[in-house]
Amino acid sequence: MAVLDILVYPDPRLREIAEPVVRVDDNIRTLVDDMAETMYQAPGIGLAAIQVNIPKRVIIIDLSKDQSELQVFINPQIVERDGTQEIEEGCLSVPDVFAPVRRAESILVRALNRDGDRFEMRVEGLLSVCIQHEIDHLDGKVFVDYLSRLKRERIRKRLQKQAKRGVHPAPAGDAVTL
Ligand code: NI
Repeated sequence: MAVLDILVYPDPRLREIAEPVVRVDDNIRTLVDDMAETMYQAPGIGLAAIQVNIPKRVIIIDLSKDQSELQVFINPQIVERDGTQEIEEGCLSVPDVFAPVRRAESILVRALNRDGDRFEMRVEGLLSVCIQHEIDHLDGKVFVDYLSRLKRERIRKRLQKQAKRGVHPAPAGDAVTL
């Protein structure tokens, strides 16, 4: 397994639209393992392959406290949405920024697991938010896109300045970093 580099906003590669996975093979399973190691080390609770510069439709999530419940969604699709909720979100590609985003409360998601088997899941609350956040990444979208233009500009300038100075922000600890 390997820890991969995470792209940081406003890196244009985060805007790429990820391609569907044609076959779930050992290459994809290795990617999933590397993504998990990267996410756990960051630390974060969700990661999309595009964030490690692999434009494939693969996302992983682990909401457990002890990194014991990895969930893998390959070619995920939201087929139903219901209600609304708003929680404070962060993102491994947008260090140190947290902001509330309005999303669907419950969703029905369809995907392939790491064996390539199709499954469907109805989820709500935090898991639902995570899946929506990660699928946004696969469509070239970052959560700061939901903020005002002014806020987004401020974040972009700050992160560009930090990158130039070679500053690596401290990990966010307990926060919801996706
Ligand atoms: Ni994210």
